[in-house]
Parts: sequence; C-alpha cells; structure tokens
Amino acid sequence: MDAIVIEGARPLRGGVAVSPAKNAVLPVMAAALLAAGTSRVRRIPRLADVRTLARLLEHLGARVSFDNGSLVVDATDVGGREAPYDLVKTMRASVLVLGPLVARFGRARVSLPGGCAIGARPINLHLAGLEALGARVRLDHGYVEVAADRLRGGRVVFDQPTVTGTENLLMAATLAEGRTVIENAAREPEVVDLAGCLASMGARIAGAGSSVIEVDGVDRLAPYDHQPIPDRIEAATLMTAVALCGGEVRLDGVRLDHLDAVVEKLRRAGADVADEGGGAVRVRGAPPADSVDVITGPYPAFPTDMQAQFMALMACGRGLSVITEKIFENRYMHVAELQRMGADITVEGATAVVRGVPRLSGARVMATDLRASAALVLAGLVATGTTVVSRVYHLDRGYEALDRKLASLGARIERIRE
Ligand code: EPZ
Repeated sequence: MDAIVIEGARPLRGGVAVSPAKNAVLPVMAAALLAAGTSRVRRIPRLADVRTLARLLEHLGARVSFDNGSLVVDATDVGGREAPYDLVKTMRASVLVLGPLVARFGRARVSLPGGCAIGARPINLHLAGLEALGARVRLDHGYVEVAADRLRGGRVVFDQPTVTGTENLLMAATLAEGRTVIENAAREPEVVDLAGCLASMGARIAGAGSSVIEVDGVDRLAPYDHQPIPDRIEAATLMTAVALCGGEVRLDGVRLDHLDAVVEKLRRAGADVADEGGGAVRVRGAPPADSVDVITGPYPAFPTDMQAQFMALMACGRGLSVITEKIFENRYMHVAELQRMGADITVEGATAVVRGVPRLSGARVMATDLRASAALVLAGLVATGTTVVSRVYHLDRGYEALDRKLASLGARIERIRE
C-alpha cells in the first residue's frame, strides 16, 4: 500500500493545471450506455474511480479503451444488465449505470452500494424517481432490480437535492416517452455538464443548473465526443493549500464561476484569489488564516467535498471557526487524525468547533476517505516535521497525482510503498 511522506512548512510557488472533474467524468461515462456507437471522453483523468467504472462498463459488454488521452467507449453490444457487488462496493457512483440501462434496455440489476466512511448514502430517492417514470423496483438479496417496458415521462420531486439521483433520472428521462419534470433537482456544475453532454447526443433538456429540469424523451440518442468541466474540488483544494502554506500559485484550467462559495470563504480567511482570465487564477496565501465559519450545503452553497480541507486551514487559523456539515452524517473522520497533529477541534453532532493553533506537528496519520486524505496532506504541508499519510489509495480515487502537483509547487512530498 502506498503512503505519502511530507516535510512541512514551506510556501508554495509556481503553476499547475487542474484536471477534468471526477464527478463530471463518472456520469458522462455512464451516459455512453444510452447510445449504440462509440463515445469519447477527452482528457480523461487518470483516477482509480475512472478505472473502476471502465471495468463495470466492460463487464456490461461495452468495449472500452484509452486513446491518446481520451477514454473511448463503444456501447453498441452492451448485453449485460447487472452491476455486481464487488464493483459497486468499491465505488458507489456505479449506481449511475441504473438510469441508462433501464432507459435503453428496460432492465437493470445493480448491487445496493452499501454505506461508506462518510455515511449510509442510500439510493431511495433514485428508486422513487424511477418508479415515478413507471419502472417497477424490487429489492433482492442486496441487489435492486428495476424494469420497465418503456419508461414514460412523469413528475419527480426529490425530498432533498441528490447529485447522482438527479443525474440518474436525467439520463433515464432522455429516452422515456413524453415529458419528465424533475423538481428539487441538484444544481451542481457536474449536473449541467452531463446535461450538455446528453444534449450533444440528441436529448432535449431545459433547466439544468436550476432546481427544475424538464426533459422531452426521444426514441434514440447518438454517441458523444465530450470534454468534461475542470475539477472545482481539486482547484479549491489547491487554493486552500496555498492559503495554508503561503506563497503564490497560478492555477490553469479553472472555472472560477463554479467556486463562488469557496472563494468567498478563502478571501475572508485572508487569501488573495485573482481571476487572470482564460481559466487562469492566481492565489496568494498569507498565513495564519483568519477564522471563518462554514456551513456545507447543496450547490451553490459551500461544498461538503471541501469541508475537510477547509477544516485543515481553520486548524491553523487565528481564532475560532464553527464548521457545520449538513450533507453527510459522518464526514468528520479526519478530525481524530488532525487532532493527532495537534489540532484543537471539538465535534458535537454535525458541528465542529475549530480553535486555531500556532503550529501543527507532523505525525503518522491514516486516510479514511477521499477528501479526508486531502485534508491530511494539506495539514502535513504546513506541520512542523514529518507527516506520513497512509492508505493513500483513498486519495488516488479522486485526485490525479496530487502529490506530484504539490511537489511541482515546491512542497517536500513523496510517495513511498509501505
Ligand atoms: C455526489 O454524491 C458526489 N459524488 C459526492 O462526492 C458529493 O459529496 C455529493 O454528491 C454531495 O455533493 C459524485 O458525484 C460521484 P447526494 P451523491 O445524493 O450523489 C442523501 C467526492 O468526494 N440521499 O447528493 O451520492 C445522502 O445520504 C464524493 O467526490 C438520500 O437520502 O450524494 C446525502 O445525505 C463524496 N437518498 C444527501 O442526500 C438518496 O437516494 C446528498 O447526497 C440519495 C441521497
């Protein structure tokens, strides 16, 4: 198993490009199932989750290859209908094949994903939405079976915004008969990117990015050639690293308009974030950060996927920060590890009170989930002495060579095999 070793406390300087977004690439890859023919995802990021979903698409009968930086998916001969437990348990986003399989083939059998480190993460809203489009849903030995002769357009109202739930229903509705209206839809940029990809396939969608999305079903879709949006969470993670360590860094390929809530908090914490045009953003850090409060919520609120990283920043802040996690019920697994590095954090239910300390100290810490591992790397960058983050396979699920990107900015960071 790999670990990452960091010698802390150096400013970051230089420039680095942001990769395409994991959470845009995964639904777009699933969308390839909707059309016979060969689809192409350009500039595919080298991520473990991308490889896992590629394996699932092959398991379903698609032909998947990597060609000159693109992922190529030929879904002509997809015959499989089942997403097996051993694949789904390693990546919950496998549930995204549900909507496309039912829409195109009338049936799907997908292992229930089960929980993960950050919460129970049910898919009841996905299933209720498919039932609203006329699908019959049956639970069977840890699998969910969904069937419909042909989905028919209907009204889907989500109890709460769900990103992959919205994406599953969006994909299912594209081939349903008639009009579907999705209310209380997720507004994330990745949903908008998927809608743009589906439209390029011939889907008829209006309202993506708002909480009401309308889809007029068509009889068939054509394959796509799509370049997903940049990863706003990777960009925000790198910005937070500069706010923590100090220095000046230029990020290329950023959609700053996807980061209003995070940039507002980073600026109030004392970082200077400047739009240099053409996707370039210049970030200057002036540690120690001023302490600011954060409440996570559905887009456009502060993203839950940045909560752990921002907590690392507040752990070295000047004062007291109150962080409230409103999306997942157990997304504080990084707290105990940060406390081992000297952070002063008290968790009470969904709220964490973070009292800034002058210095974190390097320690051996363990990654528990994707964004927690990013938070521990950031803490190691600013801690005195050596930090060793183990189980970095969590990090590799969603960040493309984050250690190498940070090393290119002057961080003393290297990957070892433990
Ligand atoms: C997506 O997960 C992202 N993953 C997550 O990113 C992200 O944290 C999350 O959205 C919230 O923004 C991908 O896009 C692949 P939800 P998703 O459905 O869709 C509850 C990362 O680090 N809910 O929006 O699974 C759920 O429990 C990952 O990149 C139900 O109760 O999240 C949660 O409390 C982590 N029933 C809330 O809704 C359902 O059927 C929002 O979850 C679905 C969701």
